[in-house]
Amino acid sequence: MNLKKLSNKQYIKYSNFHGSEYIASEFALLQILKFITQYKVKNFLEVGVGIGTISDSVIKLSIDKNLLINCYGTEANEFCLNEIPKNLKINLDKLILLENVSEIKSDVKFDLVVVDGKESAINILKNHVSKHSIIMIEGDRSEQTAFIKKLFPKSKLAHLISLNKNGSYSKKEHDHYQGEIKVIFTNPTTFQYLHWAKIKIVVKVKFLKRDYFS
Ligand SMILES: C[S@@+](CC[C@H](N)C(=O)[O-])C[C@H]1O[C@@H](n2cnc3c(N)ncnc32)[C@H](O)[C@@H]1O
Repeated sequence: MNLKKLSNKQYIKYSNFHGSEYIASEFALLQILKFITQYKVKNFLEVGVGIGTISDSVIKLSIDKNLLINCYGTEANEFCLNEIPKNLKINLDKLILLENVSEIKSDVKFDLVVVDGKESAINILKNHVSKHSIIMIEGDRSEQTAFIKKLFPKSKLAHLISLNKNGSYSKKEHDHYQGEIKVIFTNPTTFQYLHWAKIKIVVKVKFLKRDYFS
């Protein structure tokens, strides 16, 4: 299944689950799957698994494309902890679910981290990222973004935005654009630097298009 179909299918499925008001946007979900594929991510962490939309989609991607991805996630909310097993079903076995990032073993380093929830010990992430790790931040989360930027002084930040509005199946406002996702290249390689520059240009064009069509 291609990534667009997979993210759309997963988004519709999770939109119908109990407590789906806070799930990641369909656009964010697609971008995460694209980054995982493009950067051949082996160790993945989601901070704030919620009801499981992102982590389940990453596990589905790994099964679908026969990729070896170690999928870690953190969640402490009682409601979500009850929903995750119901939603992930047999994929639950493939998720290493922790209460918070302090529980991550000292030798584990992530190639990609998605931040979509509160985490009081976010500074610990510094010890758990690979040399050229990427951190994606779902939604606004301006405080967490500023904090993470400070943790990685060499980092480059870009916003990824969509020109598509929320689908009729979404619990979000249908006349609103699908939610954005931010990407932080913590210590960019030349390739990542060029990728960052490309994203900056594409986003400028998208903002112009949004203005033009509004
Ligand atoms: C934006 S949500 C995370 C959504 C998750 N990444 C997903 O796409 O399914 C951020 C946090 O809100 C809390 N949360 C999510 N859904 C909730 C709900 N229905 N009721 C109460 N808390 C919720 C959880 O602690 C979660 O980590």
